Amino acid sequence: VRQTVIAIDGPAGAGKSTVARLLASRLGLVHLDTGATYRLVALRALDEGRSLDDPSALAALAREVAAETTLGPDGELAFRGRPVGERIRTAEVGEAASRLAAYPPVRTAMVQFQRALVPPAGAVIEGRDIGTVVWRDADVKAYLDANETTRAKRRAQPVADRDRRDTERPVGGLRPADGALRIDTTDISAEEVAERIMQRLQRAQTPAPPEARPSAFIRAVRGAWAAILRGPLKMTVEGAQNIPVQGAAILAPNHRSLIDIPVLAALTKRKVWFMGKEELFASKLGNTVFSALGGFPVRRGKPDRRALNMALRLLANGALVGVYPEGTRRPDARFEDVEDGFAYLALKSGAPIVPIALIGTESVFPKGRKLPRRARVRVLVGEPFSVGGPVDGIVPRQNVHAATALARQRLIAVMDEIDPRP
Ligand code: DC
Repeated sequence: VRQTVIAIDGPAGAGKSTVARLLASRLGLVHLDTGATYRLVALRALDEGRSLDDPSALAALAREVAAETTLGPDGELAFRGRPVGERIRTAEVGEAASRLAAYPPVRTAMVQFQRALVPPAGAVIEGRDIGTVVWRDADVKAYLDANETTRAKRRAQPVADRDRRDTERPVGGLRPADGALRIDTTDISAEEVAERIMQRLQRAQTPAPPEARPSAFIRAVRGAWAAILRGPLKMTVEGAQNIPVQGAAILAPNHRSLIDIPVLAALTKRKVWFMGKEELFASKLGNTVFSALGGFPVRRGKPDRRALNMALRLLANGALVGVYPEGTRRPDARFEDVEDGFAYLALKSGAPIVPIALIGTESVFPKGRKLPRRARVRVLVGEPFSVGGPVDGIVPRQNVHAATALARQRLIAVMDEIDPRP
């Protein structure tokens, strides 16, 4: 099985434990609180009357404790077979933990200790150096923070001294890992925080697209199709050079016929990935053919996070993705009604939108007809435009509305150009 690891770092009182427990129960993984491992070693040191000023003796103690500690399915540490319980939660133990955690030899021992506790299925691991040291290739790294007053209130004790010690130590100091999802938990619920991390996980686990080059299958289908477009369908194309030859872009055509995406695919040598309604993928044959052509299913009617994540992942990899702004076939429409999924994708990925007007496809393959008819197809590809990008990694809803409105105007302009209204 694939291992799933979520790394959660942040200062005391940021809400790591609550969020980690929520995530662990949703994902059926154990929760590993590495602070508890430091606390356990600190408790042993205090119980045995050891000096807190001897790094190598404390490192040796850490290895001894590690050898006799296990992690229960509920995330509870057991030392010599007994749950460690609440004794590690006192302020005195927390203080001692923070002190011994500053010694590099102790940290080396602790990191080994913690890694050994992670079961094959993975874990939600919380601490200070998980994303930076303990589990650098975690599926998701999150960094939680909150303002100091809030954190002190949650801990029912001051946190400033602890913050300083945990941040300023030379090894394993607290800092956000590269690429970490940073969340300020001051004003949001633990459920909301967990939800954002779940979203990031879902995206991280969507398989990376294989290659951006069209397969032999696609090239063969496209060759035959291009012959039909140039022959019986007498297709004329303007602006094909506006389709970028490399890099991410969202192809946004109007939608009048089943052949709209294949028409686009014939305009570029690149592979065009596209969102297709899930019904197309329902049969085994449909699934095989449409997937091989670069399609992936989308559930219509409400936002489909899986499909959006797949599209984002493709765009992050520099792919061309075709999306119908109108959402469904609207044979008489001229982009008057567009949904906002495509604008969200553009904002979130920062990829440009390529506006495309298709005329005549509705006559080739009108809705409800089983066999194609001869008709003339005209295509106008407009210039790519950007609607902006995320703000701090987030796409505010009102920005999506504004981007949708802007994009809609550009789409209508291209439509008006190829097919002026009387
Ligand atoms: O999160 P906590 O308060 O239970 O952690 C206790 C101490 O352990 C904390 O002050 C610093 C240390 N710690 C650490 O250095 N690295 C970790 N990954 C987790 C905790």
